[in-house]
Amino acid sequence: MAASLTATRFTELVGCRLPIQLAGMGGVATPELAAAVANAGGLGMLGVPLLPASVVEALLDRAESLTRSPLGLTFLMPFLDRAALAVAASRARVVELFFGDPDAAVVDLVHRGGALASWQVGSCDEAIAAERAGCDLIVAQGVAAGGHVRGTLGLSPLLAQVLDAVRVPVLAAGGIATARDVAAALAAGAAGVRVGTRFVAAGEADTHPVYCAALVAARAGDTVLTTAYSVGWPGAPHRVLRSALAAAEALTDALAGETVIGETRSPVPRFGVYPPSRQATGRIDAMALYAGESVGAVTRVQPAAEIVRELMLQGFASP
Ligand SMILES: Cc1cc2nc3c(=O)[nH]c(=O)nc-3n(C[C@H](O)[C@H](O)[C@H](O)COP(=O)(O)O)c2cc1C
Repeated sequence: MAASLTATRFTELVGCRLPIQLAGMGGVATPELAAAVANAGGLGMLGVPLLPASVVEALLDRAESLTRSPLGLTFLMPFLDRAALAVAASRARVVELFFGDPDAAVVDLVHRGGALASWQVGSCDEAIAAERAGCDLIVAQGVAAGGHVRGTLGLSPLLAQVLDAVRVPVLAAGGIATARDVAAALAAGAAGVRVGTRFVAAGEADTHPVYCAALVAARAGDTVLTTAYSVGWPGAPHRVLRSALAAAEALTDALAGETVIGETRSPVPRFGVYPPSRQATGRIDAMALYAGESVGAVTRVQPAAEIVRELMLQGFASP
């Protein structure tokens, strides 16, 4: 039983050992985190939504110096930098897009570079469009997800619809944080799972300690879906800790503080989109503390490899 649940159409396609994908989280998913997940058997992803090609190249250099296992990169369609995408496609195993209509020209660019193309979707129609655009892989994101949220359906009904509608391997995302969740998603027909919030509290993530502490303290019901953190990306729904939203609402200053993006220290306006990196200063508690309903399973800061091991426990497999 263990072997059949660790080898899936996803692991075979991508070339990793375990059906777990780190979510490519902008500002959080560092080369160290991606490499740690990859070395533990999952697919390590770098989140590079706003970074130019030169920085993407440097991040890939760093990640590749830490692992020889397959890696991927995640881009956001509203901020797509085609030069950065081309670099990613020429070097990574998977290039993934999110938050925009599936686009055959973008998928073609990924394929021409030599990478597999993945699209994270929030609806069945979007999944069908992603497959038609030529994607090799689809991530179905349920509404419980942390960070930016594309759709309105819970993972279970969305996954069922998407699995019925497309033939490419489908990963399940949104609310997956325990071995029980992983087993349920695989049993439902997913070829793997994508996990974000749980890895925000990994030791290798670029997450401010105050953010980590807030995640550890939060329970599943302590998140809220909002469009409030809109400075830099207006109108896009996202899930954050309710405590952060309350703190930002109460803030009287126009600035919450500063954070480091790429290698640049940048101001974080009140309701700015950037989550606080380890080197952020100011009102960390009021910044965009993205978290999914899966946050209830975050009980401490742990090495990423330990999180991967725990996700694969429960008698199903061990990495
Ligand atoms: C801190 C954080 C940052 C995120 N940043 C991105 C991003 O840059 N690009 C993206 O495609 N998804 C991003 N997401 C969403 C994830 O891809 C994924 O859908 C989500 O984390 C899954 O739900 P979970 O958090 O319950 O595991 C982010 C999520 C979090 C928690």
